[in-house]
This record gives sequence, structure tokens and C-alpha cells, in this order.
Amino acid sequence: MNRIAELDHRYIWHPFTQMKDWLREEPIVIISGKDSTLEDINGNIYLDANSSIWTNIHGHNNPYINDAVIKQLNKIAHSSALGLANEPASILASELVSAANPDTPSKRLEKVFFSDNGSTALEVAIKLAYEFIRRAGKTESPRFLSFQGAYHGDTIGAVSVGHIDLFHKAYSGLLFKTDTLPAPYCYRCKWNKAEPERADARKYRRCNWECIRQVHKQITEQKERGAPYSAIVYEPLIQGAAGMIPQPQHWLRQIAEIADENDILLIADEVFTGFGRTGAMFASHREDVQPDFMALAKAMTSGYMPMAATLTTKPVFNAFLGEYEEFKSFFHGHSFTANQLGSSAALASLQLLHSHECTRQRQRLISLMAEEIDGLWNLPAVGDIRREGLIAAVELVANPSTKEPFPYEQQIGLRVCKALARRGVLTRNVGDVIPVIPPYCTTDAQLRKMIAVLADAVQEVCAV
Ligand SMILES: Cc1ncc(COP(=O)(O)O)c(C=O)c1O
Repeated sequence: MNRIAELDHRYIWHPFTQMKDWLREEPIVIISGKDSTLEDINGNIYLDANSSIWTNIHGHNNPYINDAVIKQLNKIAHSSALGLANEPASILASELVSAANPDTPSKRLEKVFFSDNGSTALEVAIKLAYEFIRRAGKTESPRFLSFQGAYHGDTIGAVSVGHIDLFHKAYSGLLFKTDTLPAPYCYRCKWNKAEPERADARKYRRCNWECIRQVHKQITEQKERGAPYSAIVYEPLIQGAAGMIPQPQHWLRQIAEIADENDILLIADEVFTGFGRTGAMFASHREDVQPDFMALAKAMTSGYMPMAATLTTKPVFNAFLGEYEEFKSFFHGHSFTANQLGSSAALASLQLLHSHECTRQRQRLISLMAEEIDGLWNLPAVGDIRREGLIAAVELVANPSTKEPFPYEQQIGLRVCKALARRGVLTRNVGDVIPVIPPYCTTDAQLRKMIAVLADAVQEVCAV
């Protein structure tokens, strides 16, 4: 084993990893990257088929972003946002506000609070919403809603609005109480209305929006009980960590209408979906939904730096204005809030994202992805194939006719990812769902290889 792998084994505790298994095998040690590829310490080249956990959109070692960061590095890496402004963060905030308010939105997101990662972006939104509602005199104890299968990060507030038992249940004693709404998972529709047609798995002819009616019922009943809900946290268009589960068209629009009718604030978690991943700059806008809070991270810096932002409206901002001695400030912040290096990477990334070339390339890849991934329907164990923009995923099941999952201990998803890695493609399974989430600079040939190798890996692991 090389020295770096040895050091890793001796000292590092990896996220979401059974370390007993990890310590049995020599890890892949990444030493460099270029565009959509990563190189390990032994000179092996891999395709980055999950954009380094959904963060990298313009490729590794991108000359334009590198240049922007180096220029900034030659000025200053970081100064505190406590009592000081800085150049790239101020410009970035104005660019984010422009991007988040296309055309004439129903609400304008006009203020930007910077933090460090997706979880902190959610924490900020939750705390601001909580206090805004209380200061508006609506209730002393705002109640939050989020969806089955929701994942909003791993800090305690973000976990409180999460609903993945495997990750969250153990910590229930630490969390504040939130209620759960049913989320659409059409492949396993609770009301059994799904009739996926293989070419377009989201035409559900018998669907009568039972899941929406349930949301409506739950919210109105709670209002009638005299303790109405105050805010809904949602992942727009697709739930990522739940297993890449897309929402049917108009689902989010209807949720927003129910929220509006019931005076409920919307917190959009665009941590995964933001910055073009679903086709639009921000996924909520594809459904004409403008939230009260928008949490951004991951691709904001094109995966270069840990940096995040929470955007919100003037009314929310104004609720925290007051005389010094009124103690109305938002008492929250992080050492690296509004970091200059992160801001310069984010600004360069946004410029690339706005370019015609990037938009054209993304649209082409989205079409190619659809063609290529649909070729996997006849493989063994493929239960469902799901797509949303430049996100694709295959759900593997023990029995495609009954949709029966594989026994957990078989670790099918993990084994398929290891088979992919042996063939030079890296992605990270979500249970037995295998995502393909490439950087936008991926070439056609590279995308075809990702899918072809996925087919081989599924056949190797799942064929009887
Ligand atoms: C939708 C969503 N929200 C929040 C997070 C948390 O982001 P981070 O890992 O940067 O804390 C994630 C991470 O995967 C996510 O997918």
C-alpha cells in the first residue's frame, strides 16, 4: 500500500462510510484532475461520473476558474466578514441576486447570507424563517414541514428537517420536531397509480395527484386545529439523497400554491439542483416557483471551495433591523463567511455558466444522456431509470416485476460502484440507486463511456 493510503487508513475517518469495510481495501488516492477526469497515485485515470459528489460543473483544473482564484490569492485569501466588506463577495452577492430573480418574480430574493456548505445554508434559512415568523407575530412556535425522503444536510437543524431514517433516526433525541409530508416516488407510488412507460417513466396515466391531495389535507387539518404550519422545506424537481427521485411536472407548482393559500413560507434547498443541474439555473424556476429562502452550495464554486449562500427577501431582512440596543441582529456567522477565494471561484463559475457555449453543451449532454441511459432498460435488475436535466440514475432491484429490493447486506449498489471503478468510472451509490451526474464539460465520448461501463458493471454484479 502506498504511503498516502497508509496515512489515510491510520488517521482519516470517512463520511457516510463503514470504516471496518474501508480498512479492508486499499483506497483510490486522487492526486490530480483535468476536466471530467481524476487521476490516482498509480497513474490510473477515472471519469468523474458524480461530479465529485454533485459539486463540480465546469471540470477539474479549469483554467478560467484557476486563474480567477490565483488572481485573488495574490491579493488576499481571507478576511473576516465581521465588520469588514470585501470585493469578490460583494460582486458575487449582486450576481446571485440577478440570477435568482429572472423576469419579474412574485417575490424578489434580494439579500445574501454567506456560509460554508449546504448544511449551513439550510441552518441559516431555518433560523431566519423561525425568527421572522415569530417577529411577524404569527406564532411563538413556528412549525416546519418537509418531505419523506428529504435530505438537507448533517448539522442538527438540517437533520431536523431530514427524513431518511438510516441517517437521521439515531439522532432523533437531539432534533426539533418537524412534520413529514408525502413526497412523490412514482416508481413506488403509495397509491399504486404509477404506470411507468419505459421510454418516459414519468407518464402516469392513472395518477390523480393523490400525493398532492394528502399534502393539502394535512395542512388544512393542522390549520383547523389552530396550530398552522409556518414553513415548508423542499428539494425542487428531484430529491437527491432519497435516491434521485424526480417529481412529476407541476407537482412543485401545486405545493407552492398550497403554501401560498395557507401563508406558509417556502425554503428551497437548491444545494444539489442549483446552477444548471436540472437545465434551468435554479430548479424552482422551472415550475415558476419563487421561494422565500433559497439555499445554495455545492456547484456555487463549481466544486472548488466550501462556500454557500442563503438568499432571502427584503421583508425577512427588515425584520432583523432595529436599534443596536434592541438586539434584533441575526446572531449567526462563521469564520469563513464571505471568503474571498470561494467568492472568486463562484464568480468565475457563474460567468462560465452564463456563456452560450456552456448552455449549448449542457443541453446537448442532457439529450445524449436521455438516449444513452434509456438503452439500459433491458439489463438484469434494472427496476427504474430516472432522469432530470443532467442527473440520471438507475434503481436496481432483486425482482423488476415485483420491484422487490435486494437484501441490504448484499450491498449491490456499492458493489456496482466498485465494478465501475475497476473500469475507470467513479460514482457513489445511493443505496441500490446508481447515479450518473457528470460535469457539464463532459464530452459525448466520455458520457457514452460512463453509460456503457455502467451497463457492464450492472451485468457483472447483478446477472444470475
Ligand atoms: C439537497 C441537499 N441539501 C443539503 C446538502 C448538504 O450539503 P453539504 O454536504 O454541503 O453540507 C446536500 C448534500 O448532499 C444535499 O444534497
